[in-house]
Amino acid sequence: KKSTKKNAKEFDFIVVSNRLPVDRVRNADGKDDWRRSPGGLVTALGPVMAKSDGAWVGWHGAPGEKLDAFGHENMKLIPVELSAEEVELYYEGFANATLWPLYHDVIAPPEFHRTWWEAYRTVNKRFADAVAHSAAQGAIVWVQDYQLQLVPKYLREARPDLQIGFFNHIPFPPLEIYAQLPWRRALLEGLLGADLLGFQRPNDASNFLRCVRRYVNATVKQNQITIGERTVRAGAFPISIDTAQISALAATPEVQERAKQIRRDLGNPKTVLLGVDRLDYTKGIRHRLKAFSELLEEGRLNVGDVTLIQVASPSRERVESYRMLREEVEGTVGRINGTFDTIQHTAVRYLHHSYPLAEMVALYLAADVMLVTALRDGMNLVAKEYVATRANNDGALVLSEFTGAADQLRQALLINPHDIDGLKDSMMAAVEISASESARRMRLMRRQILDHDVERWSQEFLSSLRSKT
Ligand code: F6P
Repeated sequence: KKSTKKNAKEFDFIVVSNRLPVDRVRNADGKDDWRRSPGGLVTALGPVMAKSDGAWVGWHGAPGEKLDAFGHENMKLIPVELSAEEVELYYEGFANATLWPLYHDVIAPPEFHRTWWEAYRTVNKRFADAVAHSAAQGAIVWVQDYQLQLVPKYLREARPDLQIGFFNHIPFPPLEIYAQLPWRRALLEGLLGADLLGFQRPNDASNFLRCVRRYVNATVKQNQITIGERTVRAGAFPISIDTAQISALAATPEVQERAKQIRRDLGNPKTVLLGVDRLDYTKGIRHRLKAFSELLEEGRLNVGDVTLIQVASPSRERVESYRMLREEVEGTVGRINGTFDTIQHTAVRYLHHSYPLAEMVALYLAADVMLVTALRDGMNLVAKEYVATRANNDGALVLSEFTGAADQLRQALLINPHDIDGLKDSMMAAVEISASESARRMRLMRRQILDHDVERWSQEFLSSLRSKT
């Protein structure tokens, strides 16, 4: 890794997110190394930043460590330091135990603590300072996600010359839920420091506009907000994936061979079902396991004929609701396997790991049915990645209607994950789908994501930011 430490105020384009695309980790041999960060944000922005000569400002995942700017895989990364206490109060606390559940339909109860809010403000100010220090005159700054909602305001105060965009990767809640937040007005004012605010779905944008109308002293007309002299726009910009990169990986002989080997290693079942999620309570993993175990119980599916691979990548492991979820999911998997496994075959192959992209693509290729059963999800890029790998137009996607992706992948088998009987019927329909029906659906979905890739998403957002209309 060569150092690309730059002079201050050099970059014309800066992306800022809570996490950098790589996390600092310590290997078994005691050496420091870098590992791809979890989640959809990095999946989407990695390819955009690899092609740009801007800089990426964010936390490097290790508490209490101060690092200089560095280069990694064609990207210029500027680390922001977080103390162990700030990780606990700002990241695990306010971001992931207050905002995350509040913005995801209060599936878990959000907690409101003034000390967490104080830490959120302090850390958002630090991110804004890091950007202000590195941005060239008139630069474009693109702030990402719910962890940094105060950054647009702090940044505008420090650097009124900048053009500031903000994109929210997760849902924006309805007014009736947002109203619970003790700091609801301050957070909206933080966001309104931006020139353009992007959301995943039109619904998220209109939820936000309703909240502004209610809690901020501003005029809202359609998607335009006027506060004093300034105009702020808000709209939907559904995010996507690097479709060409995923399709290309899926076409390599090594990945195709690996996919065959995965099926062989499972004992060549007729049907492989797959779930891929961060281990998060929003993803509906328990609902999926319940439906699957009832199908086995009723003999509509049989172990040996079918296997469910569930990749659950470790996430936010020190947050209480995530610990409880892990206990529950692992208990359930143990019960299902204990009941239905044979010496030869397993019902659920559960993997609490994260994998490199090539291995993920091999898993997608190996799967006849992809299960995305989120209770609420801003977009869900796993659904799009699965479709991108199906060059033969085979396979079936079972997709929750509570994901942003359901707006675009209309030909998926759409389900309500709370309706377990409906979910079971759709899983059976996916297992039994005819080649012609699956090709008809897959062809249309592939066309959608080939046309609307992440490059197009970023261009549409950034050109809207520049055009000021
Ligand atoms: O896409 C939503 C998101 O929360 C990202 O902002 C985040 O980087 C990713 O999921 C993974 O979560 P975390 O960074 O908390 O591990």
